[in-house]
Amino acid sequence: MKKHKLIAAILLGLSLAPAASAQQFEKQAYDKACASCHNTGIGGAPKLGDPNDWRVPVAAGMARLYKSALEGTPKGMPAKGGLEGRNFTNSEIQAVVDFMVDKVKVALGATAGAAPGAAPAGAAQPLPPVAFNFNRLLKPMDKRNLPPSQDGIHDPANDGTLMLQPPMEGMADLTRSRFGNNTDWVASLQGKKVTPRWERDNPFAEAMVMDLDILRAPKAAVQDVVFPHKQHTEWLDCSNCHPAIFVPQKGANIISMPLILLGQKCGVCHGTVAFPVSECAKCHSQKKGASQAAAPPAQKATGKP
Ligand code: HEC
Ligand code: HEC
Ligand code: HEC
Ligand code: HEC
Repeated sequence: MKKHKLIAAILLGLSLAPAASAQQFEKQAYDKACASCHNTGIGGAPKLGDPNDWRVPVAAGMARLYKSALEGTPKGMPAKGGLEGRNFTNSEIQAVVDFMVDKVKVALGATAGAAPGAAPAGAAQPLPPVAFNFNRLLKPMDKRNLPPSQDGIHDPANDGTLMLQPPMEGMADLTRSRFGNNTDWVASLQGKKVTPRWERDNPFAEAMVMDLDILRAPKAAVQDVVFPHKQHTEWLDCSNCHPAIFVPQKGANIISMPLILLGQKCGVCHGTVAFPVSECAKCHSQKKGASQAAAPPAQKATGKP
């Protein structure tokens, strides 16, 4: 294997001393064909050496990673990394994958990275639990919105805690819902049951509401997703989402349920400060293909409704 790597390297015109280690070949191949995306993490590419980025891919097993690297994935990994990578044989690409996984192996504490079959048969070691921002299931209804003295956040022995208004009392007049913190904030705002101030220092400032629906049609047996700018811009500034969370261009962002569940994209807010991911139909709100018949969405900027 080492020999044909060397030959390939020579054919590629890489200056590789005969004594160069395999790692050096892989590093050079990586730099040539993979670094442009995997150094920066562009488009969701797992970053070289970042264990958080690699935990989920590594857990899927080396066979999956080789397949993704060779054939590409629908979420943006090009087959063999694209044009540059086509110069490499399949086994060389696999060696680069090993090299990438090696960089996080220690941090992940896994047996991953070993060539398939190298691990003793039947000794599949469980991977450490995924330790980052997974949107957890919400507490049962009767455990949500507890008064400050019982919520586990405020010190029950502090007099100040008792002066705070219990959430259920504060939200009593708002439109109820069965999810999140039991309040339908969109309906409450539309019904003027809450009139939040747009700027702290300026009572006259108004939201710049933009009525523009973005349709996202996943290639799966689920309803299409309608992202409504209106309901968001009644609360949020454009800069809350653009450009850090979403590039402002229809279809330009890679959005998927796994990313949302990991607290990215829509999941930055949904499941944390907005209705949770369990409310599928709130986002998946349009029949597949229904948009073909529908008129193009209106785009207008108005003051507060
Ligand atoms: C044009 C950008 C780009 C280049 C170049 C690129 N990748 Fe990727 N890669 C991605 C993206 C985006 C993902 C995440 C896609 C996904 O979730 O499946 C990814 C994911 C991967 C994964 C994880 C796949 C999985 O199943 O989770 C591996 C392994 C990988 N790349 C290897 C490579 C190797 C090896 C090269 C170079 C030969 C390379 N990549 C070059 C963009 C790139
Ligand atoms: C809650 C997050 C969020 C907020 C706030 C937000 N946007 Fe967006 N915006 C999105 C998403 C999501 C898309 C669709 C991206 C995609 O499809 O990849 C989008 C797309 C766009 C597009 C592209 C439309 C097209 O047809 O290509 C423009 C323009 C835009 N937003 C402008 C704005 C402006 C102006 C504001 C403030 C008034 C704003 N956005 C506020 C999330 C947001
Ligand atoms: C920056 C935070 C943020 C991001 C990112 C975000 N949302 Fe929201 N979203 C909110 C808030 C806040 C509300 C209003 C409060 C609520 O409904 O819980 C809302 C409301 C909505 C509503 C309106 C529900 C109704 O009752 O009319 C839909 C639909 C929705 N979001 C879908 C999405 C989708 C799809 C994405 C990703 C493309 C997304 N959101 C990204 C914060 C966000
Ligand atoms: C906060 C909004 C939101 C909620 C809530 C939500 N989804 Fe999604 N879902 C999305 C977006 C956005 C996409 C990506 C659409 C695309 O491909 O552009 C998506 C994609 C999907 C896909 C396609 C595969 C993929 O990962 O891209 C499936 C299947 C799916 N959702 C199922 C569900 C189910 C089941 C629920 C409820 C348990 C749910 N979704 C709740 C926003 C949401």
